[in-house]
Amino acid sequence: WKIIRLDEVDSTNEYAKGIAPSSPEGTVVVAKRQTAGKGRKGRFWASPEGGLWVSVILKPNRSDPRLVFVGALAVVDALADFGIRGWIKWPNDVWVGGKKIAGILTEGKAGKFVVMGIGLNVNNEIPSDLRETATSMRAILGKRLELNEVTNRVLDHLGRWYKIFQRNPLKVIEAVKERTILINREVKVIHSDGEISGTAVDILEDGSLLIDTGEGKVRVVYGDVSIRP
Ligand code: BTN
Repeated sequence: WKIIRLDEVDSTNEYAKGIAPSSPEGTVVVAKRQTAGKGRKGRFWASPEGGLWVSVILKPNRSDPRLVFVGALAVVDALADFGIRGWIKWPNDVWVGGKKIAGILTEGKAGKFVVMGIGLNVNNEIPSDLRETATSMRAILGKRLELNEVTNRVLDHLGRWYKIFQRNPLKVIEAVKERTILINREVKVIHSDGEISGTAVDILEDGSLLIDTGEGKVRVVYGDVSIRP
């Protein structure tokens, strides 16, 4: 990795997209704070000092939406290195004990580059209005962690899963299935033209979620969906 460290930036994803055309694969942008951290669907992502706010520039041979799983797996495996059991909430959140601890936001230019943004709550304070639904490594372990160490663990695992992904994306899907919280749960998927309720039964080879509605099985492709367990 070639790591660019910033004290403050609007969004590491925006910064990374700006430099991506002229940067090699493996360029990483890390910031101590983001003033306009972005979540999915244009939501605001609180990014005060103490958390891991990182974007990785990748140049895969072809764009593949399943790449987002590489980021989620990297976070789950990094959490395990610190004794925390995390689960992937399909398609791109990581949860611990019923609360969200990390989110992944991939953006890019088809055929040119992918920016994989990872936000992981490490030592940062969780705003009071989010405490019911969000958590941090510090809240779980009851102590502060060395942020650099967490960053290195995440990047190590990311590099490893990215290599596996390039050789065989199905290995990545298999790993996601083992680490996902949705399977066999009742879910409600909200998408652009309606709602689907049922039991999540599988994650398919293309990365989509299979839901048994009682009247048949429906395949949900990620993108514009949100899920309520
Ligand atoms: C989500 O759960 O909605 C995705 C959150 C992604 C946040 C990270 S923090 C680093 C990178 N820069 C951003 O502006 N967003 C991502």
